[in-house]
Amino acid sequence: MTLPPDHPLATGRTAGSPLVRACRGDRPPVPPVWFMRQAGRSLPEYRAAREGVEMLDACLDPELASELTLQPVRRHGVDAAVFFSDIVVPVALAGVDVRIVPGRGPVLGSPVRTADDVARLPRLDPAALAPVAAGVARAVGALGSTPLVGFAGAPYTLASYLVEGGPSRDQLRARALMRTDPATWDALLDWCADVAGAFLLAQVAAGASVVQLFDSWVGSVSLDDYVTRVAPHSARALAGVRALGVPVIHFGVGTGELLAAMHGVGADVVGVDWRLPLDEASRRLGGTVPLQGNIDPALLAAPWPVLAEHVADVLRRGEAAPAHIVNLGHGVPPDTDPEVLTRIVAAVHARG
Ligand code: CP3
Repeated sequence: MTLPPDHPLATGRTAGSPLVRACRGDRPPVPPVWFMRQAGRSLPEYRAAREGVEMLDACLDPELASELTLQPVRRHGVDAAVFFSDIVVPVALAGVDVRIVPGRGPVLGSPVRTADDVARLPRLDPAALAPVAAGVARAVGALGSTPLVGFAGAPYTLASYLVEGGPSRDQLRARALMRTDPATWDALLDWCADVAGAFLLAQVAAGASVVQLFDSWVGSVSLDDYVTRVAPHSARALAGVRALGVPVIHFGVGTGELLAAMHGVGADVVGVDWRLPLDEASRRLGGTVPLQGNIDPALLAAPWPVLAEHVADVLRRGEAAPAHIVNLGHGVPPDTDPEVLTRIVAAVHARG
């Protein structure tokens, strides 16, 4: 497979954008900035558009998903859109009974815990991803030279929802399965990798210029378990988009010990949470890897002078890396004042 000739990376429409340049290790005059979970409840226009529409229904309505993708770009002037969807969308499209419960997250009709449960997981028919492709294509058409970031949940994070049956703090059942029944674990993570890989490819084929693999919960595993029981599956999820030459960002929370291994699965950029200063993260990566991050989401609620000083510190420390994409260290909290996000974008752009 090659990129379609009208793809924004192929035509050059987004190839020179600050985000794509930074992914490739370059320092554009103005550092790119976007926010994980920038589309969502912090925006009044989001709450209005979502009124009475279930989360998964919103994700599968191409017109609405495109509109929700564009809202934060219009409002904040960020340097990237991130496609409005969810990590469990391809799982649902495969036919697994999963709902997104407001205030909680994805909840499974029945958890996946045994070899039989895994064997019964339905194959994802790529044709089922048509609403995703249509939403991406529509948003990309409106974005001009602003790149759209496509994303997927990494196999470990997806599997932790499937095994636990819903959100969990430490993924105890998932990590027990990993060690108790490695064959079932491998089969489950391969299933998750194939679902994530197909979801990424559908977004790229429809015009995404960059992808981000979210391994949000992988900070709960040891480095040894990560390398032997998680990383090969993450590499499998990324193989298709890597073969197309699309830049890959790889992010997780609490992953200070895992950064080099997370880079090793095939990432161009490593996303860092708020716990580890970017200069130290860069040192752990040998000073050769572009970084994304890592404004502490907690400080979005702090008085502006406190937040402004923190943003300046993040920018300074980011200079240790070959390139820096400014972002939060995790997603935008739903009660964030959106004007604060707009102000951060202006402050970052003023540094150029
Ligand atoms: O703006 C964006 O970043 C794009 C949209 C996006 C959503 N989910 C929309 C969403 C992205 C990239 C995700 C990824 C996602 N979903 C992750 C990885 C990122 C992370 O935060 O670590 C995870 C772990 C999930 C699973 C999930 N989905 C959770 C934990 C929740 C929150 C539940 C809640 O209500 O607090 C969701 C639901 C969800 N996904 C919402 C949005 C905007 C909230 C739904 C709503 O508005 O009711």
